[in-house]
Amino acid sequence: PLVGTTEMFKKAYKGHYAIGAFNVNNMEIIQGIMEAAKEEESPVILQASEGARNYAGQEYIVGLVKIALQDYPEIPTALHLDHGSSYEICKACIDGGFSSVMYDGSKHPFEENVKVTKQIVEYAHDKGVVVEAELGRLAGVEDMVSVDAKDAIFTDPDQAAEFVERTGCDSLAIAIGTSHGAYKYKGDPYLDYERLEKVGKLLPGYPIVLHGASTVIPEFVEKCNQYGGKVLGAKGVPEDMLRKAATMAVCKINIDTDIRLAMTSAIREALYKDPSNFDPRNYLKPARNAVKEMVKHKIEAVLGSAHTI
Ligand code: G3H
Ligand code: 13P
Ligand code: ZN
Repeated sequence: PLVGTTEMFKKAYKGHYAIGAFNVNNMEIIQGIMEAAKEEESPVILQASEGARNYAGQEYIVGLVKIALQDYPEIPTALHLDHGSSYEICKACIDGGFSSVMYDGSKHPFEENVKVTKQIVEYAHDKGVVVEAELGRLAGVEDMVSVDAKDAIFTDPDQAAEFVERTGCDSLAIAIGTSHGAYKYKGDPYLDYERLEKVGKLLPGYPIVLHGASTVIPEFVEKCNQYGGKVLGAKGVPEDMLRKAATMAVCKINIDTDIRLAMTSAIREALYKDPSNFDPRNYLKPARNAVKEMVKHKIEAVLGSAHTI
């Protein structure tokens, strides 16, 4: 059924695993993720960004998810707004049938972020919808060798505790070294586990969210490049590092880039191998299957959420 994230995060925290939050933009992505969740018997979060709303239309996304849930009624599934930038967009998603929204006020001053997050929490909770907020800046760490540099960018644990207390948000995205996209690190991958542990101590049992958590799976990058693509110097968060974060306070791991790479590498391969075929089903079917297999792998090797329904 369509659910909020409270129950799934509670179980994930206790069980030292995390729930995958996968970005969805079209039918094939939703189908691939749901097939994987079913086979792995795992709860799942389908998340739509503002970009996804602009691309597909909010009502199409809600409609597709509703139909998917008819097919998979046994899978606890949250429909979540990813990086909502205003009260109005969060409200539109809450009114439109989402079970969870994120307000990302991380680029605003602390007090402004507190104020808007709190307003959204009030509106959302009144309608039985949960709210994720964000504190700290998601940025690459190549220049952040010093403690001072990390303190300037990463989430301050004391501030995180104050923010949660004052806003009543249901989960919090923090910055500990990840960043969005396929080019996360110039040097060695890095996650500030010490900071994560501090947050966990100050907010016992509270679900933390990790954005920018794709691994940038090398197999897909290589396949893209083998079949005419040009994805150079891409690097993500290694699987074992994510696994460790999932055993700590991280209950939600966001994945978009790995979906993009899985789909695009499959489409490139299909088009290359069968150049005369112009039936979209010929390349969208392998793309959907690549999403499914990638999500199954995540659930087993990274998230640890298999067989938890
Ligand atoms: O956080 C960003 C997500 O990967 C969504 O990306 O805004 O291009 O849909 P998007
Ligand atoms: P990736 O770019 O690492 O997949 O992160 C996605 C994300 O955080 C969506 O909010
Ligand atoms: Zn994000």
